[in-house]
Amino acid sequence: MKVVKLDIKDKSYKIIIKTNVFKDVVSHHISNYKNSKAIIITDKNVAKYYKQKFTFLFEKSKIKNQIIIIKPGEASKDLVLIKKVAEKLLKTGVKRNDVIYALGGGIVGDFSGFLASIILRGIRFIQVPTTLLAQVDSSVGGKTGVNTVNGKNLIGSFYQPSAVFIDPNTLKTLSKKEFLSGYSEVLKYSLINDKKFFLWLDLNYKKINSRNPSTMINVISKCCIKKAKIVKIDEKEKNYRMLLNLGHTFAHAIEKDINYKIRHGEAVSVGLLMAIKLSILLGITKPNIYNLIESHYNKLKLPTSLKSLDAKRKWLPKSLIRNMLSDKKRTDDNIKFILLKDIGKAFIKNKVNKNKIALAIKEFVND
Ligand SMILES: NC(=O)c1ccc[n+]([C@@H]2O[C@H](COP(=O)([O-])OP(=O)(O)OC[C@H]3O[C@@H](n4cnc5c(N)ncnc54)[C@H](O)[C@@H]3O)[C@@H](O)[C@H]2O)c1
Repeated sequence: MKVVKLDIKDKSYKIIIKTNVFKDVVSHHISNYKNSKAIIITDKNVAKYYKQKFTFLFEKSKIKNQIIIIKPGEASKDLVLIKKVAEKLLKTGVKRNDVIYALGGGIVGDFSGFLASIILRGIRFIQVPTTLLAQVDSSVGGKTGVNTVNGKNLIGSFYQPSAVFIDPNTLKTLSKKEFLSGYSEVLKYSLINDKKFFLWLDLNYKKINSRNPSTMINVISKCCIKKAKIVKIDEKEKNYRMLLNLGHTFAHAIEKDINYKIRHGEAVSVGLLMAIKLSILLGITKPNIYNLIESHYNKLKLPTSLKSLDAKRKWLPKSLIRNMLSDKKRTDDNIKFILLKDIGKAFIKNKVNKNKIALAIKEFVND
């Protein structure tokens, strides 16, 4: 078992990482919110594996509970659905001391967190993430939200959970694609500021591939510690938290280009390599760093090129750059990039020559 503390003034909370953690969730509820209803939000796929197991423990302890099952997929991160679920909760008598449990991946987490932040002007919520991406990234840090026709995650709030409970065994039922998608975020943390962690991941890739629970507890806790540190310094992403966007400027442009038909993490995998290639083209990084990282990609079978994301598509660097320029989250005309001086040495660069960006992308068109 590992416990990570996220310290942000009056909103501090614990992240508990252990096998069979559902029991701890219920004990925590009994100790802290005895007379509150547990509102469990999950999606259909997760419900298939874990609904019974999770609700049974609440039932056994005679805790009032209610389950809401949403459809899996980005379409559920939607304001109309938020309203529908909120009205259902109001109709069934939700109270300010009730607790929302987000049991699922990042979609369930973002949806539930946003709902919790606005219903009755805010009720408690607890994250119980079941994808690797949610366990190492989205469940920690308090970003919540839904999508709009103008772009992803553009309506939302910063709203911290009261606790996060992570069971590495839930990763066993996750598809290979989803697992690797989350793993790209793990890799990202190591590249940002921890070369030792990268070398450890490289050494332990077989155990990671087999989702060995104790290895995964180490991986997840390490990532949560890193995210907690960054969020503590810059909760609202004014500057330092931007480091977490390593590879993401490219990834968002790729996702947009393909109309979000691939997993976010798949785009991040290629985006990370693009950021390293760009760092090399700008003379900031030594070329051998790229080979070291690429060899790790090959061991885990992570996507390394645009063609590996969609072989039939004609990928155009120009189009990806256009997507970067139209990113709604940009604050001025410059595209900000997170680049690497070395493995574990990421930094924010405000202005980058567009020709170099195009050159970096080109290297991934035909591989
Ligand atoms: N809030 C943040 O800080 C933050 C950070 C990164 C990403 N996100 C958001 O997270 C979302 C992506 O999250 P995700 O990658 O977890 O996707 P997801 O929630 O769609 O889950 C992926 C798929 O796996 C299924 N699933 C979940 N857990 C499972 C399990 N244990 N076994 C079998 N199937 C399971 C889900 O039903 C879904 O089909 C995006 O909407 C993204 O914008 C948020």
